[in-house]
Amino acid sequence: MKHLIDPTDLSKQEIDEIIAIAEDIIAKRECYRDCLRYGKLATLFYEPSTRTRLSFTAAMMELGGNVLGFSDARNSSVAKGESVADTVRVVANFADIVAIRHHWEGAPLAAAAVSDVPIINAGDGSHAHPTQTLTDLLTIKRELGHIDGITIGFCGDLKFGRTVHSLIKALRLYDHVKVVLIAPGELRLPAYIKNDVCEKYHIDYEEVRTMEEVLGELDVLYMTRVQKERFLDEEEFDRVKDSFVLDAERMKLAREKMAVLHPLPRVNEIRPEVDADPRAAYFRQVGNGKFVRMALIYCLLKWKNDPAHAMPPHPDWFEAPALHCHNAHCISNHESVAPLFRRTASGGVRCVYCDAKIRDAAAL
Ligand code: NCD
Repeated sequence: MKHLIDPTDLSKQEIDEIIAIAEDIIAKRECYRDCLRYGKLATLFYEPSTRTRLSFTAAMMELGGNVLGFSDARNSSVAKGESVADTVRVVANFADIVAIRHHWEGAPLAAAAVSDVPIINAGDGSHAHPTQTLTDLLTIKRELGHIDGITIGFCGDLKFGRTVHSLIKALRLYDHVKVVLIAPGELRLPAYIKNDVCEKYHIDYEEVRTMEEVLGELDVLYMTRVQKERFLDEEEFDRVKDSFVLDAERMKLAREKMAVLHPLPRVNEIRPEVDADPRAAYFRQVGNGKFVRMALIYCLLKWKNDPAHAMPPHPDWFEAPALHCHNAHCISNHESVAPLFRRTASGGVRCVYCDAKIRDAAAL
């Protein structure tokens, strides 16, 4: 059975199919109105959300189905100490498919391990956000007509921004993509994305310090919010919070056809004056999020019993009860989960739940 926990769970063909169905839904909405009549989606949101939860809800409603769940875990049995795994075992009796957002990294993976209905990761800590990635891919395709060959600049919080991590992972499937990383030193892209994705899949990438020096080369500018809630140190947050701001003056340096994306919410990294610029695609992006989630729910339910759409094998994963993940935000430090780790291309070891480094190759 196919779950969507990480963008790498989907093959290129599966992503193409989801995007093609989303485009078909946009063209012929009425044809999909009743296709999941009586179907039920559970949304388990342990962390705040506006867009993602409402777009999942709207998506299921537009397919003719129903939605149940919670948006504040304090009102559920979680408050009594129920584990993610137990909550999901219970909810799988009531719903055909589950979308889960959690502040602990790896919570959706732990849920998928015990679930007999498809699980969708709607964001886990600063780790991954694969449905935002599908939204972003559909948006790039609709704005520019293609994804192959683009130069995309990621700007802002590349350290904690889970949408950035997931989109870069998906871009490994496209030809001749160039990634430009625009961030202050404190907010640079984690090494595991650089090594295990960019270098492993030969994605051409460069790191720069200012937006101005690259704006004229970009087809897509992907702006992000500095993720205040993930900072342990408030002073550090204050130092970087206004690092990069997109305004009308800077937009003059950009190409005529560049698309500005942002997963939203924005704080002050895009000035409101940019909203009227035809290149500002972020509100159209939100709308695409609903259509792509409709397509995803539809596909995961269609693929459920099809062995051709099983989860990809993970020959690099292994169980090691003696190893321990030191990331305080990893589910493995809060709940009892299988002690799973993976070997990296360079021979190191990482946690499969959160991708934190366990050992360098040299330490083995
Ligand atoms: C993002 C998220 O939750 O990671 N928002 C979203 O899902 N659209 C980005 C953010 O919170 O900054």
